[in-house]
Amino acid sequence: MSGNRDNTRLDESERKKIFQQFHAKSQGDEHDIWECQKFRASLNSTEVIGIFDEWVKNGDGSYEKDMLGIGYQGHYQTAELLSKHLPGKKDQYKIIDCGAGSGLSGVELKKVGFSHIDWLDPSGLSVEPAKKRKVYERFIVDYLSEKALDVKPDTYDASTCVAAFFEGLIPLGGFNEMIRITKPGGIIILSISETSLNTCKEYKGRFLPRLEELIEAKEWELVEKTHEPHYYRNVPAFFFVMRVLRSGPIQHESKVTK
Ligand SMILES: C[S@@+](CC[C@H](N)C(=O)[O-])C[C@H]1O[C@@H](n2cnc3c(N)ncnc32)[C@H](O)[C@@H]1O
Repeated sequence: MSGNRDNTRLDESERKKIFQQFHAKSQGDEHDIWECQKFRASLNSTEVIGIFDEWVKNGDGSYEKDMLGIGYQGHYQTAELLSKHLPGKKDQYKIIDCGAGSGLSGVELKKVGFSHIDWLDPSGLSVEPAKKRKVYERFIVDYLSEKALDVKPDTYDASTCVAAFFEGLIPLGGFNEMIRITKPGGIIILSISETSLNTCKEYKGRFLPRLEELIEAKEWELVEKTHEPHYYRNVPAFFFVMRVLRSGPIQHESKVTK
C-alpha cells in the first residue's frame, strides 16, 4: 500500500529491472502513460519509490527530459497559483514542496520569488539532484501519509504538491498531515489529473469526498479550483487551492479513509 513508512530500499539490480519495465511502458503515444499507472498499481511502496530513485539517480536529467518531453506543465502552474495566493514579498513565506522529487517544482517556486522552501520526498536518491538546484533549505526524506512527519505543527505558510497524486504515490491520509504542518490561514495547493481522479485505486470516488469532508469539518476551505487542459500533453487536471482554518492534528474520524 502506498504511503507506508517502508524504509527498506531495493538493491540496484531490482530497482533497475522495475524501472526498465515501467519506463518501457511510457514510450509511444499518450495512452501508454496509463499503462505506467496500471503497472505502478501492481507495485508496493518500496518498488514505486525505487522507480523514482532509479529515474533520477545519475543526475543526468533523464527524469526532467521525460517529463518535459511529455509537455509537463504542473510545476509552472503550481508556482503561478501560489504566487497569486501569497501576495506581497515572497521571501516572508515558508513553503514545503511535497513530493518534490528532483526539484522541478522548487525551481519554479524560486523563480516567482519564494526563497524559503523545504523539500519532502521518500526518494532518497532524489536528494542529490534536488540539492544541485540550490532552491531548498531542509530535505525531509519521508512519505507524506497520515503519519506525523518530523515537522512541528503550523510550520508552513504554504504546502504544495504537484504530480504526486498518481497511482501508488501519496495516500489520501496525506491531506491531514499537510493541514497539520500548515499554519491556520496558510495555503495548500493540490493537483491531480482527471484520469488519476477517476481511475486510481486510492482516489477514485474518494479524493473529492475526502476533500469535502475536511471542508465540512472546517479543517480547510476551498479558495479556488482551476481546470488546466494541459497538465501534460492533452491530459487535463484540477488544481485545488485550499486555505487551512485550524491548528493542530486532525481528530475526527473519516468515513472516506477509514
Ligand atoms: C512525478 S514526481 C513529481 C516531482 C515534482 N513535484 C515535479 O513536479 O517534478 C512524483 C514524486 O512523488 C514522490 N512520492 C511518491 N510517494 C510519495 C509520498 N507518499 N509522499 C511524498 N512524495 C511521494 C516520488 O518519489 C516522486 O519524486
